[in-house]
Amino acid sequence: MDHISRLGVVGCGLMGSGIAEVAARRGLDVLVTEATDEAATAGRARVTASLDRAVRHAKLTEQERDHALSRLTFTADLDALADRQIVIEAAAEHRDLKTDLFTRLDKTVTDPHAILATNTSSIPITDVATATTRPEQVIGLHFFNPVPVQPLVEIIPALTTSADTLTTARRFATEQLGKQPVQAPDRSGFVVNALLVPYLLAAVRMVESGTATPEDIDRGMELGCAHPMGPLRLLDLIGLDTAQAIAESLYAEYKEPLYAPPPLLRRMVAAGRLGRKSGQGFHTY
Ligand code: 3HC
Repeated sequence: MDHISRLGVVGCGLMGSGIAEVAARRGLDVLVTEATDEAATAGRARVTASLDRAVRHAKLTEQERDHALSRLTFTADLDALADRQIVIEAAAEHRDLKTDLFTRLDKTVTDPHAILATNTSSIPITDVATATTRPEQVIGLHFFNPVPVQPLVEIIPALTTSADTLTTARRFATEQLGKQPVQAPDRSGFVVNALLVPYLLAAVRMVESGTATPEDIDRGMELGCAHPMGPLRLLDLIGLDTAQAIAESLYAEYKEPLYAPPPLLRRMVAAGRLGRKSGQGFHTY
């Protein structure tokens, strides 16, 4: 497959909406599926708001925004993905949900050459691949939040991924989506989250132990190390529920205490303090 024109995106939360937006801006026909009609409508609103923001920041003309929107379709019908040449799954970070989705995608997507990709950050790609009858066509494509801003994509072949799938997926992510790649082995956390998550969890433990306030921890890393945002503000951006799920996968894989979600993170998730998306996390929005 030299050129992909029809992309499917499963899930339209923070990551799925960003992937869909980038692809539509770069001229692809993008079909986004969500679990319910309400979630599909919310997904459309999220992508539209981000495109409007790009217009306000003079990154996009109104005409380009309208063209991008005309290339995007949102639906609650997974079967609508039948004619897609590549599907990127960006649903919640739960192993059973993802393996179930891949079993369904395998039955739905009719093109025998289609690539089924997952945006998982921590669940083994090989587990997802073996939930299908075409494990050689499954691969990890891990994007970074906000997807329209961060240039990186991690490319993760499963043990089963064919060389053709790797070449096509890499070309798609770089030439068609304009991302810059790092190839990583199929180990939980790949490269970036394996380094980032222990750092974020250490910041939570500093709050928990009373070492410093969230404001001071963030200020320290922003002003002392030139990070664009400190670790607690970044956790709020990622979503504390997502961060907890990633930490649990990493801990399950390595059994290293530095990956274990601290009690404060679990309590905040239980209390619905999920970060930016709920209006309250380590900071208030
Ligand atoms: N969508 C599109 N563009 C956005 C955006 C969004 N959600 N948020 C910000 N931008 C753009 C703005 O338009 C602006 O562009 P301009 O300067 O050319 O006009 C630029 O980004 C800077 O935005 P702001 O001035 O509004 O705000 P900041 O300077 O504070 O930047 C940020 C915001 C881009 C989020 C920056 O703070 C940042 O890069 N933070 C770190 C994010 C990060 O580390 N992400 C990785 C998370 S880990 C991950 O995703 C993996 C997963 O598995 C957990």
